[in-house]
Amino acid sequence: MSGDLMPVTWERVDRYFVEALLTQDAALTAALTDSSAAGLPAIAVAPNQGALLQLLALSMGATRILEIGTLGGYSTIWLARALPAEGRLVTLEFEPRHAQVATANIARAGLTDRVQVMTGVALDSLAALSSAGAPPFDLIFIDADKANIPAYFDWALRLTHPGSVIIVDNVVRDGKVTDAASTDESVQGVRRFIAALSGDVRVSATVIQTVGSKGYDGFLIARVNTPA
Ligand code: SAH
Ligand code: DHB
Ligand code: MG
Repeated sequence: MSGDLMPVTWERVDRYFVEALLTQDAALTAALTDSSAAGLPAIAVAPNQGALLQLLALSMGATRILEIGTLGGYSTIWLARALPAEGRLVTLEFEPRHAQVATANIARAGLTDRVQVMTGVALDSLAALSSAGAPPFDLIFIDADKANIPAYFDWALRLTHPGSVIIVDNVVRDGKVTDAASTDESVQGVRRFIAALSGDVRVSATVIQTVGSKGYDGFLIARVNTPA
């Protein structure tokens, strides 16, 4: 990364917009402090990223949301708050402790009725959702182990409908994504994913690079055009 001062600027600008535009109530801030107290890594989406997810879900009128990678439920709360009372969010997490912290955070946010935390290896949970005949999801947020992004996206195509939106976090990672020789399995996971997506007419997709309190990274946003 070039320039030591840039991350400081990114943080300051994030803080400026977050303080001006967003209300983080007690349930959201407590989700972060309790996650931290429980020793969970500080890798939840930034507040303005959570708000972006919520705005997208609201704009689409999503009633069914799937999240792969729960951590302490911070992004879960932003997303679930976009749902109408009868809407549902399913979130997948393989660390029982993370799932436990998330379940408490979701309860404090008053979202227990709308959110189901599935504990287990995400690939197993996705297979289980599929074989249980889960109705298609309108929005899927992929934010778990990056080496499995290609497999998660394949499942996402099978669990959505034309018009659904799939968002993948962390596809830029300080620009490492362009290093074809990288030995980082997260980088290679993203690169295999992008290679598979290239020319895939079933989806329309783009990537937006981001800077801010989470450093330099990016989201892929895809719209499902035709069923898998
Ligand atoms: N979406 C969260 C952050 C998720 S961090 C937020 O923004 O608030 C990624 C999470 O994915 C971690 O909790 C990690 O335990 C979980 N994870 C990693 N590999 C997984 C797997 N194979 N199956 C299910 N969850 C996994
Ligand atoms: C990591 C994972 C994330 O999902 C994220 O947004 C940032 C960092 C990580 O595993 O380091
Ligand atoms: Mg992430």
